[in-house]
Amino acid sequence: MKPTPKTFHVKSFGCQMNVYDGERMGELMAAQGMTATDDANAADLVVLNTCHIRERATEKVYSDIGRLRKVAREADRPAPIIAVAGCVAQAEGAEIVARAKVDVVVGPQAYHNLPGLVAQAAAGAAAVDTDMPATAKFGVLPARRKVSPSAFLTVQEGCDKFCTYCVVPYTRGAEISRPFDAIVDEAKALVDAGAREITLLGQNVNAWDDAEGRGLHGLIRALDRVEGLHRIRYTTSHPNDMREGLIRAHAEVEKLMPYLHLPVQAGSDRILKAMNRSHSRASYLALLERVRAARPDIALSGDFIVGFPGETEADFADTLSLIDEVGYAASFSFKYSPRPGTPAAEMTDGFVPEEVMVERLQRLQAAIARDQAAFNAATFGKRCTVLIERKGKLPGQMLGKSPWLQSVHLMTDAQIGDLIEVDIVRADPNSLAGVERLRDAA
Ligand code: SAH
Ligand code: SF4
Ligand code: F3S
Repeated sequence: MKPTPKTFHVKSFGCQMNVYDGERMGELMAAQGMTATDDANAADLVVLNTCHIRERATEKVYSDIGRLRKVAREADRPAPIIAVAGCVAQAEGAEIVARAKVDVVVGPQAYHNLPGLVAQAAAGAAAVDTDMPATAKFGVLPARRKVSPSAFLTVQEGCDKFCTYCVVPYTRGAEISRPFDAIVDEAKALVDAGAREITLLGQNVNAWDDAEGRGLHGLIRALDRVEGLHRIRYTTSHPNDMREGLIRAHAEVEKLMPYLHLPVQAGSDRILKAMNRSHSRASYLALLERVRAARPDIALSGDFIVGFPGETEADFADTLSLIDEVGYAASFSFKYSPRPGTPAAEMTDGFVPEEVMVERLQRLQAAIARDQAAFNAATFGKRCTVLIERKGKLPGQMLGKSPWLQSVHLMTDAQIGDLIEVDIVRADPNSLAGVERLRDAA
């Protein structure tokens, strides 16, 4: 038996969907009368909301568990109840209890059951729930309360694409779309709770659809009519689900921000095929051309994997040349990590040695940094709106985001949640500085 927890701390790793899930788990525990604490080491219940995407992400959870227990031991406190949630929970299930003696293991589709599982653990029995009922959790989660000006809203989960390197189809299950009305209602609740910008989330968010075939662009147009909501974003998209209606929305819906995260992973058709990406270099580039025709100032970002099995220097050069051709505003890049249970983990031919991966990653990141700096530099002198999200380091300084998702800092008496019009007066490689023009540009 352990005492019923009074305080909790949720720590989320991985993608934005995990951040969203972490917030929802927090609301769930708060609705049980528990109090959130920022200090994991002081909490009676710690929820580690984990990511399985790469080996390093997965191993983090085990070192965190060890550290939490060590700190408790040294402070002569009882160890907290530890719940492992998220994608490692889904992938490893009860094995985590065997390996690390945690109290609760709960998958991403079952976290609405967390209070019951914690109660079971407090009574002394480890509790594991990795069931995958389609979107059951959304119906039973408590209402959204206070949120930041930029809020996440999950609209789609799961993936049917089965890229050969990726665990997501296994940890998050098949593609499902939440119902239209439930999403619009949650968006309104988020706005009532303080959101000015909403980022629609999905592992393949642009695959969102309903029986009427409204598609993500239909949803975006409905959210465009929500009063008090000023900005709409969405992530992450798959090239093959990028339909004409969505591209048109970028030209026509003012609240839809000029930013598109569209991962390509590699620039060589041979590697794209081995990855089962089901698009080619040429089809990807043609797609971006259509997007840019609709919204010429759009900021593009991508994800890249270096060192996929079989990747030669020539294949890698194709990735670099694709980056040159696109000119991304930002990008995320990773060394290939073989994941248990994925087809690529069985591909032993053309294994790329660690030092080659490191060297390719450095070259790729230099190209990305160059393009990001160029994109930022091109913003110099522009006038744009900035959504104020938090205080800066200096007194009177605030930080916000441009429409192109760049961080902007400026001196202002505007408050968190204000949308103000700003002139960009300095462009650094990683951020911009602005000077405020008119208050309430929105
Ligand atoms: N659904 C999204 C995001 C998936 S995960 C998409 O398709 O783009 C985020 C990123 O992690 C991927 O885009 C990919 O670049 C990277 N990633 C996924 N599996 C990986 C692996 N086994 N090794 C290295 N990077 C990986
Ligand atoms: Fe993973 Fe590919 Fe699905 Fe993205 S599209 S989640 S990379 S399987
Ligand atoms: Fe990681 Fe799961 Fe997201 S594996 S990237 S937390 S979907």
